[in-house]
Amino acid sequence: MQPEQITRFLPDEDATLELGAGWGSSIKPPLVVYLQGDLGAGKTTFARGLLRGMGYNGAVKSPTYNIVETYPLPNAVSLNHFDLYRFTSPEEWEDAGLDDMFTASSISLIEWPQQGGTFVPHADLTITLSHTGTGRQCTIFAHTEQGQKSLEIWLN
Ligand SMILES: Nc1ncnc2c1ncn2[C@@H]1O[C@H](COP(=O)(O)OP(=O)(O)O)[C@@H](O)[C@H]1O
Ligand SMILES: [Mg+2]
Repeated sequence: MQPEQITRFLPDEDATLELGAGWGSSIKPPLVVYLQGDLGAGKTTFARGLLRGMGYNGAVKSPTYNIVETYPLPNAVSLNHFDLYRFTSPEEWEDAGLDDMFTASSISLIEWPQQGGTFVPHADLTITLSHTGTGRQCTIFAHTEQGQKSLEIWLN
């Protein structure tokens, strides 16, 4: 597999939403995506855009307090949006039984995956957002064939 990495500059919030939304029409489960970046980098904004692009029109709130928000989507697909920021130890992953949420029909977006240590399933894609001036730099890296295929359909 050829490693694939793509970088985009996102000048404003709308650009982050549009990037996410553009993936919504083609993204398919199972897929595990790490969302990396500092507080306020735009990880939840990206998740909101993706959900919009998948046809979800309700509110998309940050899962910081609940650890995970689940969105049922058409065709029995579910999107699970995790935020492990408040974990005090990786074992909380096991205590909460989060492995059960990774199924053939689930798409997983995980903010602060490093907080779950080795309990967190490996990513197909890592999306990293970083502050650059008033905008954000977005780097997307595919780790698996599945991730690379999804990235090609999304951005080519
Ligand atoms: N490309 C961008 N340029 C400037 N501001 C952005 C961009 N993308 C998102 N934002 C803003 O940055 C903040 C990011 O918040 P959020 O998505 O909750 O970050 P995180 O989940 O990474 O902590 C929001 O106020 C959002 O409007
Ligand atoms: Mg967030």
